[in-house]
Amino acid sequence: MSFPEPERSRVRRWLAEEDPVRLLELWTRADQIRAMTVGHQVHLRGLVEISNHCVRSCRYCGLGSFNRDLPRYRMTLEEILECARRAQELGMGTVVLQAGEDLELTGEIVARTIRAIKTETSLAVTLSLGERSPEDLGTWRDAGADRYLLRFETSDQRLYRGIHPARGTDKVGRMDLLNRLRDLGYEVGSGVMVGLPGQSTESLVRDLEIFEELDLDMIGIGPYVPHPRTPLGNERGQEDALMGVLSPCERVLLTMKMVALARISCPEANIPATTALSTIDPDSLAVCLSRGANVVMPNLTPLEARFRYEVYPGMARTEEVEEGSISDLADLLAKSGRSLGVGAGGRTRRRFPCRDAVG
Ligand code: 5AD
Repeated sequence: MSFPEPERSRVRRWLAEEDPVRLLELWTRADQIRAMTVGHQVHLRGLVEISNHCVRSCRYCGLGSFNRDLPRYRMTLEEILECARRAQELGMGTVVLQAGEDLELTGEIVARTIRAIKTETSLAVTLSLGERSPEDLGTWRDAGADRYLLRFETSDQRLYRGIHPARGTDKVGRMDLLNRLRDLGYEVGSGVMVGLPGQSTESLVRDLEIFEELDLDMIGIGPYVPHPRTPLGNERGQEDALMGVLSPCERVLLTMKMVALARISCPEANIPATTALSTIDPDSLAVCLSRGANVVMPNLTPLEARFRYEVYPGMARTEEVEEGSISDLADLLAKSGRSLGVGAGGRTRRRFPCRDAVG
């Protein structure tokens, strides 16, 4: 499914637009659609980074197996459970278990963890554990997992292959896995990085089409942040890529445009204001929430582990999420007529979808 040509060229024009007055139209449109579809609530998902072991060597990611200086950790079931309890105490409706592709987090270990969380709390469980076997994905769904996040990163296959070396045993690609996740009954999330060296506007248009084709329940869009201890982000990699590199400010703006356009073409999706965006620009959280986003993912990982979960520099913040920071966020939201989400905040399908052309 592609956008009809007039819509494609409108999307292209928005992605190239620099005039802040014209852009106001895009932001307003996205915000109106957000209000009409997912409403005023901002859902909090408590993020727990349960392991930084990774068998992959994605050229952009600080957890890649090439990064031998990084001390690795894997949380125990009890430690994870403690974080989940904390999410519940803080009034969150969802816990997100995220890790590198860590095969020692076996199907059974993860299933046991999901069952424990489901027994002890009323939280929805979202998994973000990379490209795992269809068997594992099935076991985890049976154990009670509700949602799965797996970004396809970019629709440009050449770029993707260049930055995402396959593992010898890969039998199914990310697109296949996303379809399997849907068949298993998960709510499915995917997304992309914005501002990768060499990423074309045309591929961003295609990214948006794929969001719609996959009928995604969750869409994560974040700026690419170079990491000096990765092949793509080290000095050599940065020099090689110099041609197609955007400034941090340009990456933030382009990410916001992608968020707004994703909201317009996938009106019902849950869309976070991503951590990568706040890492480049701390003020972007509130701004992104006014341009289509409706989800925030506070980090509940214990501090000693959090600093080792460095997908890109500056990712880990020192602040502990606590009652005070949640009520500060609630105050901030109240200023623009928004409030903290109540309940699990899954996707709700409207009876009369209001698919709107990107104007
Ligand atoms: N900059 C921004 N985002 C990154 N990710 C991985 N490495 C980087 C980086 N250097 C994102 C990918 C991945 C998610 C967990 O983090 O999109 O899917």
